[in-house]
Amino acid sequence: MITLYVEENNGERRPIEVPTDMSLSLMEVLKASDYPVQATCGGMALCATCHVEVLDGDDKYKEATDPELEMLDTLPEVSDTSRLACQMRIEDEMDGLVVRILAQEEGYV
Ligand code: FES
Repeated sequence: MITLYVEENNGERRPIEVPTDMSLSLMEVLKASDYPVQATCGGMALCATCHVEVLDGDDKYKEATDPELEMLDTLPEVSDTSRLACQMRIEDEMDGLVVRILAQEEGYV
């Protein structure tokens, strides 16, 4: 198990305990934790409705692949640490990662 944190709109960081042996994506974890992530493409890096920003721990996790970067390029606003949650497979290295859900702010709710 690892612990991820989601920064809420009020600045609080909510911890989520996540198993690392189930090959889950961060998108699946967020949906299972009742966050409003549409994930309309089902995790194919085609919709960006799972857009998150990594606030802490970006250096702990592997870099985005070309399909993910291409999809992020289509968004009007991205940060240096923007990611598609569906492309982030839960791994031990993600322990302590902090994310903010940007798709929420972009109206994908
Ligand atoms: S669920 Fe569609 S890009 Fe992540």
